[in-house]
Order: sequence, then C-alpha cells, then structure tokens
Amino acid sequence: MLREGITFDDVLLIPRKSRVFSRKEIDTTTRLSRNISLNTPLISANMDTVTESSMARAMAEEGGIGIIHRFISIEQQAEEVRRVKRAESVIIDDPITVLPDDTIRDVRATLRKESVSSALVIEDRESKKLVGILTNRDLLFETDDNKKARDVMTKRVITARPDIPLEKAADLFRNHKIEKLPLVDKNGSVAGLVTLKDILKKIHNPNTAKDKRGRLLVGAAVGVKDDTIPRAKALLAVGADVIVVDIAHGHNIRALDTIRLLRKTFGKKIEIIGGNIATAEAARDLIRAGVDGLKIGIGPGAACTTRIVTGVGVPQLTAIQDVVAVAKKHGIPVIADGGIKNSGDFSKALAAGAQTAMIGRLLAGCKESPGEYIMEWGTAYKYYRGMASFAASDDKARMDGGKDGFARAPEGASGKIPYAGEARMVISDLISGLRSSMSYLGARTLVEFSKNARFIRMTAAGVHESKPHGV
Ligand code: XMP
Repeated sequence: MLREGITFDDVLLIPRKSRVFSRKEIDTTTRLSRNISLNTPLISANMDTVTESSMARAMAEEGGIGIIHRFISIEQQAEEVRRVKRAESVIIDDPITVLPDDTIRDVRATLRKESVSSALVIEDRESKKLVGILTNRDLLFETDDNKKARDVMTKRVITARPDIPLEKAADLFRNHKIEKLPLVDKNGSVAGLVTLKDILKKIHNPNTAKDKRGRLLVGAAVGVKDDTIPRAKALLAVGADVIVVDIAHGHNIRALDTIRLLRKTFGKKIEIIGGNIATAEAARDLIRAGVDGLKIGIGPGAACTTRIVTGVGVPQLTAIQDVVAVAKKHGIPVIADGGIKNSGDFSKALAAGAQTAMIGRLLAGCKESPGEYIMEWGTAYKYYRGMASFAASDDKARMDGGKDGFARAPEGASGKIPYAGEARMVISDLISGLRSSMSYLGARTLVEFSKNARFIRMTAAGVHESKPHGV
C-alpha cells in the first residue's frame, strides 16, 4: 500500500475550546536551533533575491532572523553579515572614522559603502583622537566635493564616556537636540558611538532578536564545496550566529561530511543548521552528524521545479511531521522551508511541529530584498528566482552541460512578482494570522499550539469552500 503525503491545502486545523481572550496573551517565542531563540518564528530564505543585509536587518528587528545567501564571494558575504552586526547595537563598538584631510568625495563614498549616515573625524589612526563629526546635516548642502573633512565637519561635539548608562545618553540626546553621541575614553580617543535612531528603535521595537552583545542576530549559508571551511571561518569571524549548510539534497554523504567537518573544525563555536531534508531517516543521520537545527523541504517552494523535473519530493506537511517525530526526541528544532503562501500555511507548519518557517516568495517582493524594482505600466515588480534555476545557477558544469554538450535540467523557476512594500508589513500579516490561529486552538505558546493541533483532511469541495466564493 502506498503511503499518502499531505500538504497545507489538504488540511485545516480543528478549533478547540479556548480561554485566550486577547491576542496580547499570546507568546510567539521559539527556538531556531539548539542554542538560539527567536521572538518571531520567521526566517528569510538564503536566496539571492531574498536575503542580504537589508532583509536580515528587517527580519531581526521584527524578532526573526535572515540567512545571508552564499552566491557571492566569501568577502562579500562576510561584509553583508558585518553590516547586520553593525546595525542597531545601541553602542556601535567600531564606528566609521575618517581623517581630517580626507576629501568630502571620499567621505561620501565611505558612508555609501558602509550604509551609514555619519563619520567621526579623528586626528590620526593611531591615537584615534576625536576632532569632529560629519553628519548628514554637514554634508547635505556641501556642493564642493574637493573640500577636506576638516573644513566641513562640526567641531563642537557632545561626547560621553563608553560606560554611560542608556538613560543618561537619552538625556544628552534630548537636552542637546543631537542625533549622534560619540563615546570617547579619558584621552579623547574614539571608543564607540550611540545613535538616536538606535535608541528609539530599542524603545519602539522590544521584540528585536539580538545576540549577547546586543547586536542583531544574523545567519549565513555555506555550500558543501572546497571553500566551505574558509567561508564559515570568515562568517564566524564577523559574528554570524548560525551557519546553514545549504544543499538541495541534504541527505547526501557530502552534506553529512561537511557537517562533521564543520563541527570538528569549530567545535562549540558554531551553530549548524543542516538541510534540506524531507524524511525521518535524513533527520536521524543529520542529527548524528552533529546539527543544531534541521531545515525541511524538498520541492515545495514557489520557485521550485524539483518535483516536476525529478519526480522527487515529499508533500510538505507530511515531511514536517516525519522529521519532527525524530527531531523532537533529540531536542532539535526544525524549520519548515518553502511553500508558505499565506498565514494559514504558516500556522499549519508550526501546528505540525516546526519551530520556525523559512520564507522566500512572500518576502522577495519587499523593499528590503536585493535587486531593483521593475516598473511596467505603472505597476512595480521585483525579481524572484529559484537558486537552482538556469538564471541563478552557480553550478555551471551541471547547467551548461557535460561533455556531451547538453544543458542539464534546472530545478528552479524565475520571474517577476508584484512589489510587496516593507518586510515588516508582510511579517506583521503572517504573525497576526498565526496569533489568531493560536487563539482558535486555545494556545498561548507555540509549544501548546502544536500540542493542541488536530488536523482534518478536506475533500475538493472543502478546499473550494475554504476560499472566498460568490463575492
Ligand atoms: P518559498 O515558497 O517561500 O520557498 O518561495 C523558498 C524555498 O524554496 C527553496 N528553493 C528551491 N527549491 N529549486 C528548488 O527545488 C530551486 O531553484 C530553489 N530555490 C529555492 C529553498 O528551500 C527556499 O528557502
């Protein structure tokens, strides 16, 4: 007898008696991996049309995390991680500095490259003695790019000591109407920077996902090729919190070898997520190899053609249930990756036992995803592509054809999708839907949610009835 696999659209969650009266009572904290918690169970996909630093920042600010894709050089990927780590720690340890003789042209280039709005001017690189500050306001009306930093900078700078309590810093911002507060040691050397924007964000966004030093959480992906160890090393050096071993078939000997090698090389200093998988046996093998988290999904994604091209895959809800059954026994959290089209699917994935969900298509249309807008007849679009599509392939040998010269079948699609606004709006829609779903099931936490979950299969008529009809 053939086993039947089910996915999101095959089922509904059955409501239960609920004592949850307000969605405020609901707590969405969860575990990303063995040692990392999130306030929001959402992850942006490690794809080159979804996650670079801008998306990763937006995700962490909303309590989730972004995984920087690996389809760039090691240096570029490390730089993307560094940008997230630099953002919004209330104290920036190593603020951008320039020298008095640097031209305004150079300063502007530095600010653009680092995606920041101000630079501290220091006497020289040895003493790092603060002599001025260049902010947006100094630069906005300056038309002569040949001028030197010393001629344009603000010289009277309000400063504080590095150990200033946050409330005291907030007072200085208020009293002096400033936006940047350089921190200097007793010799007047730069020791950090506090910005008003970051203080306000901290007050308005208590949900933000942070590391022990108060910096935003961020992950990064590596492959299973020769550069895996140097890549992981560079990513860990700039503070990546988690490394995702990213391969289409995660239950492959190469993936298992890579996981073992990463663990052997970096020991406890690395948090490893392995994937993608869709079976209990794969979960067992990856856990044995040493992962801290698992990523599930063979072919459910919006830009996936794996199932059409290869005939291989497991319907996503069954894949989640099978992997969870094993992972749970070992205390290993799992990520439901791919195929989430709305908050209903998201809720079903978590109800089935996944701790978090990874999102590609729904976030790819956002302002923070890499790439420019495409305007067509007054409508804005962005570009989205599967990482195994012809368009994205880094595996030239496979795509361009082997010795016989025939191109191999890609396992991903690509195309334009409607512009979707800011990521926080998409995240907010998904989380609102999840909170409602939890209240229908009488659950205040995600652990209770999956405990309380009972699924019911639908007929074709049920599927039809579940969508708006007749209006
Ligand atoms: P969604 O549905 O959120 O799914 O867009 C995102 C996930 O899709 C996977 N992915 C692919 N799968 N061929 C595939 O079979 C591809 O080219 C491809 N690109 C991405 C990946 O797991 C991602 O997180």
